[in-house]
Amino acid sequence: MKIYSPNVKIFDDDSDVDKYASSFVINQVGSKPYSVITLPTGSTPLGMYTLLSDAYSEGKISFRFSIFFNLDEYWPIKKSSPSSYYYYMNTNFFNKIDSPCSNRFIPNGEANDPNLESEKYNNLLDKYGESDLTVLGIGPGKTAHIGFNEVGSDYNSKTRYVLLSQETYNTNLKFFNKKEDMPIGAITQGISNILNSKKIILIAKGANKAWGINRVINGHIGTDAPASFLRYHPDVTFILDKDASEML
Ligand code: GLP
Repeated sequence: MKIYSPNVKIFDDDSDVDKYASSFVINQVGSKPYSVITLPTGSTPLGMYTLLSDAYSEGKISFRFSIFFNLDEYWPIKKSSPSSYYYYMNTNFFNKIDSPCSNRFIPNGEANDPNLESEKYNNLLDKYGESDLTVLGIGPGKTAHIGFNEVGSDYNSKTRYVLLSQETYNTNLKFFNKKEDMPIGAITQGISNILNSKKIILIAKGANKAWGINRVINGHIGTDAPASFLRYHPDVTFILDKDASEML
C-alpha cells in the first residue's frame, strides 16, 4: 500500500492551533454547504468548536446543510449524562449553530445492543458515502488511538463496539463523577471509515501527545499505533502545538 507523508503544522500558541483547525471546517462548508463532516470530542477541539460557533453567530457561516457524523460514543451511556459525547456535542457545538437535528449523527449510547447499533451506524455512513472532511484528536500517551480505535485495531476495521484500553480508561475517568458511571466500552467508527474521508486533519496539544505524534509520523505503520494508518491517506494534516511536537 502506498505510504504518504502527512502535512505537519506546528504553532507556538494554542489559539493558532484552534484557528487553523477551524479554517479547514469553514473552508469546507464555505465551498460546499452540504459537506459531510466527521467530528471528534475531547478537550483538544473545544477551542475549534468555540471559533466555529462564533463564526456562525457573527453571520460568517451557516451549517444548515452540513451533515455531521461523530467518531464515537461510550456504551452504555445515557444521552443526558454530562459525560456522554451526545451531551458534549450538543452543549459545545450543535446547540450554538443552525444545524437541524436531522443532519447530525452520533452512535446511540442508549441502544440495547451495541453490535446492532454499530452496524446501523456503519450503514448510515455508507449511505452518505465518504466524509468530505474528518477532524481527529489523538489518544494520550501510548494509546495513539483515533476515535476509540485502540491498540490492535486494523486498518480495515469498521464501526464496532470496542473495549477501552486500561490507559484510555484511566485517562478518561476524570470525565465521570463516579468510577461506576464510566463504561468500559464504546462504539467507534473504524479506521477504514476514517480513511474513507477525502481530507483528514488531526489536532494535538500538550506533552502527553508528543510520544504518540512522533510514533505515528516517524514510526512503522501498524496496529500497535492505530493512528499510524493515517499515513495510508494522501491528504492528512497534523495541527500541533509546540508541546505535542517536541519529540518530532
Ligand atoms: C477520547 C476520544 C478521542 C479523542 C481523545 C483525546 O479518547 N475518543 O476521539 O481524540 O479522547 O482527548 P483529549 O483531546 O481530551 O486529549
